[in-house]
Amino acid sequence: MSDKAVLTIDGKTFELPIIKGSTGPDVVDVRKWYADSDTFTFDPGFTSTASCESKITFIDGDAGVLLHRGYPIDQLAEKSSFLEVCYLLLHGELPTADEFSKFDHNITYHTMLHAQFDRFFEGFRRDAHPMAVMTGAVGALSAFYSDSINVDDAREREISAHRLIAKMPTIAARAFKYTIGQPFVSPRNDLSYSENFLRMCFAVPAEDWKPNPVLTRAMDRIFILHADHEQNASTSTVRLAGSSGAHPFACIAAGIACLWGPSHGGANQEALEMLEQIGTVDKIPEFIEGVKARKYKLMGFGHRVYKNFDPRAKVMQKTCHEVLGQLGINDPLLEVAMELEKIALSDPFFIERKLYPNIDFYSGITLRAMGFPTNMFTVLFALARTVGWISQWKEMFEDPARKIGRPRQLYTGATERDYVAIDQRG
Ligand code: SDX
Repeated sequence: MSDKAVLTIDGKTFELPIIKGSTGPDVVDVRKWYADSDTFTFDPGFTSTASCESKITFIDGDAGVLLHRGYPIDQLAEKSSFLEVCYLLLHGELPTADEFSKFDHNITYHTMLHAQFDRFFEGFRRDAHPMAVMTGAVGALSAFYSDSINVDDAREREISAHRLIAKMPTIAARAFKYTIGQPFVSPRNDLSYSENFLRMCFAVPAEDWKPNPVLTRAMDRIFILHADHEQNASTSTVRLAGSSGAHPFACIAAGIACLWGPSHGGANQEALEMLEQIGTVDKIPEFIEGVKARKYKLMGFGHRVYKNFDPRAKVMQKTCHEVLGQLGINDPLLEVAMELEKIALSDPFFIERKLYPNIDFYSGITLRAMGFPTNMFTVLFALARTVGWISQWKEMFEDPARKIGRPRQLYTGATERDYVAIDQRG
């Protein structure tokens, strides 16, 4: 491909540099376009816009490929651990044994929350959606940390990253316990990251909690699958909030708020509720007709980038079978989901629009089997995505070209006019 693009407006020719990446689409550099041409580019949903340069995650939507620092997601899900993937996303390389041991210790010894922080939860109604609790609690966390928030200091950025990765499971578990009216469970330093989280969610004072290695492995794998996904809506929110130099915890709270939306992270809850609404396989054809009539969307299907299978969905489906098999659960919704997928993938309406199952299609069935209520599904997504958000936030500050994000607009409103007194208005 040429190293420049040529654009002509009213007989005037402009040359725009083309920048090549290590893989994936090249970009036309329009940073000077407005200054040179007095016109803006226009891309409201950012369908054709690269907002930044990044080395963290690469997605080939047509091929259904997802790489974290070059490693395919299916290999990481099979062979790595969530905490090792956290290190990889933050630092760019898989850790040596010594590096991992230090990182694991650091995260483990930051899992506790300020004793006074627990009182924040008391301010919520017991029936509050856990995502409302998460958004409020993580934002409130910024009130407890006024040290290590100099975003221009690499060491302070690393401390904030470690604190967030470590404390999110503790906050998420508290959001869950609070809404079900059970006492909070403190983290334990002798448990792994995912085991610690499951214990904080499901242990009760009335009996000893017994770890289940299959569920621990499934939880860890689900966290890996949700860790990062290049410049999705919530990551872009964190980057934009961070670009003003805001407190890192407040930026993550903004990301949680964005992830909550049903078109984004909220789809895992919506997808399970959709399967429950369909109920049985014989109701699928009627439901599909409603989708085609645009009465509602097939939740857990479709993606802005993937126009092929979401590679995470394949691993998620495999994990779903493993968990239900291990627990001896025969969930009729799994049969509905698999039949729905089969029918949708052979229907021209979905084929023409390149709609395939995404990560949210099977995650709900798995999480419900593990004991989580549907309103906790997006909380688990936010817990896992925190490392992706904070890795992208950290990368933004390492970019010397960093500027505050400030998009422009196509203005189609009223042009200048004089004020009219109220008794003169028609
Ligand atoms: C996540 O960005 C990320 O990386 C996100 C994520 C991550 O890890 O961060 O991967 C996580 O958010 C996964 C997506 C979860 N959302 C859902 O499952 C909700 C259902 N999906 C859709 O809302 C939709 O597919 C989006 C929002 C995910 C993507 O929408 P786009 O890219 O803006 O595409 P579009 O809405 O323009 O759809 C193109 C066509 C339209 O039909 P036409 O108007 O052209 O006839 O496809 C249709 C849409 O109506 N369509 C669907 C559909 N998704 C798109 N029709 C039925 N069911 C669907 N699910």
